[in-house]
Amino acid sequence: MNVQPEIVVDVHLTGDDLRQKLAEDVRRGLAGRTKRIPPVWFYDETGSRLFEEITRLPEYYPTRAERHLLARHRSQIADIAGADTLVELGAGACDKTRVLLDAMTAQGGLRRYVPFDVSDDFLRVAAKDLRAAYADLDIHIVVGDFHEHLGRIPSDGRRLVAFLGGTIGNLVPDERRRFLFDLNCTMGYGDHLLLGSDLVKDPDRIVSAYDDAAGVTAEFNRNVLRVLNRQLGAAFEPQDFEHVARWNHQDQWIEMRLRSRCRQTVAIDDLDMAVEFDRGEEILTEISTKFTPDQVERELTDAGFVVDAMWGADDGEFLLSIAHPYC
Ligand code: SAH
Ligand code: TRP
Repeated sequence: MNVQPEIVVDVHLTGDDLRQKLAEDVRRGLAGRTKRIPPVWFYDETGSRLFEEITRLPEYYPTRAERHLLARHRSQIADIAGADTLVELGAGACDKTRVLLDAMTAQGGLRRYVPFDVSDDFLRVAAKDLRAAYADLDIHIVVGDFHEHLGRIPSDGRRLVAFLGGTIGNLVPDERRRFLFDLNCTMGYGDHLLLGSDLVKDPDRIVSAYDDAAGVTAEFNRNVLRVLNRQLGAAFEPQDFEHVARWNHQDQWIEMRLRSRCRQTVAIDDLDMAVEFDRGEEILTEISTKFTPDQVERELTDAGFVVDAMWGADDGEFLLSIAHPYC
C-alpha cells in the first residue's frame, strides 16, 4: 500500500480573527471622506475563484507572461536556489507552482512545499490536488496574513520563497518596504527569494487587463461588497456600484475603484454604521503597481537582498527576480 504523507495545516487566522480584522478595516476605511477597503478582503472562496478566471482572460497578460518566464528559466531557478523547501506567499490556486515543483524535483533536493495564504478553504482544495500529483512531497499549509505572520513560516531547511503574480504591486510603497524588510529578517543563509513583478508598459494595455470585456474583473471587484454583506450584515447592492480601473501616472499604479451610481446610504448592521455615498463617490479597493527593473533591484537591495538574476527585463512584459539575503 502506498501511504502518502498527511497535509499539515497551521492556521494563524481563524474565521473569527478575519471577521474582527474586517470590522476594523471597514470601520476605519469607510468612515471618512476618502473611502478605502484593503485588498485582502477580495479573496473569499468566490473571490479566489473569480481571480482564477481573471488569470485566464485574454486581456490579463501577467499570469501568462510569468508562467512563460518560469518555464523558460526553471532549471536555472532550481539550480540557484538548490532548495529542499518551496515556500509560496499568496499561493492562491498553486497553479504556476507546478512548474517550479517539477524543476526543483528534477534538480533533486525538493522535499517540502509550504503554501501560505489567507484564503483557507481555497488553499486546502488546491493543496489536495497537488498531493495527488506529487505523492512524495510534504505539504505544509500555513493560513495567515503576510503582513503579520511571516515569522510563523517553517524556517528549517534551505528554502526558496516565491512571491508571484505581481502581488507585491498590490502593496503601497511603505507596506512594500516593510514587507520586504520583514521577509528579509525571516530568511537565513542559503535561502532565496523568487519575486514576480509586473512591468510598466502602455497604459491602455494595463487598463484593459483590469477592465476586461467579459466583466469578470468588475465582478471580482464588486465581490468585496458581498463579503461585507455576509460577514458584517451590510446592505450593499453590488449593482449600484460601477467598476473603475484607472491608470495613475504619478504613482505608476493602476487603481481599482467602486463608484456609487447614485446618492445612497448603506447600513452595516453589525457595526452600527451607516455609510453615505454621493453619486459618483468612489471606494478605492486595490492598487497594482507596475515597476521598472531598476526599481525592483533598488527596492530589493534597500531591503537587504543581493540580486542573483533577473529575467524578462528586456522584453518588457513581466519580471522575475531571484535574490538572497545580504548576510
Ligand atoms: N500567486 C497566485 C495568486 C495571486 S492573487 C498567482 O500568481 O496567480 C493574490 C493571492 O494573495 C490570493 O490568493 C490572496 O488570497 C493572497 N493574499 C492577498 N493578501 C494577502 C495577505 N495579506 N496575506 C496572505 N495572503 C494574501
Ligand atoms: N495581484 C493581481 C494584480 O495586481 C491582483 C489582481 C488582478 C486584481 N486583477 C485584479 C486585484 C482586479 C483587484 C482587481 O494583477
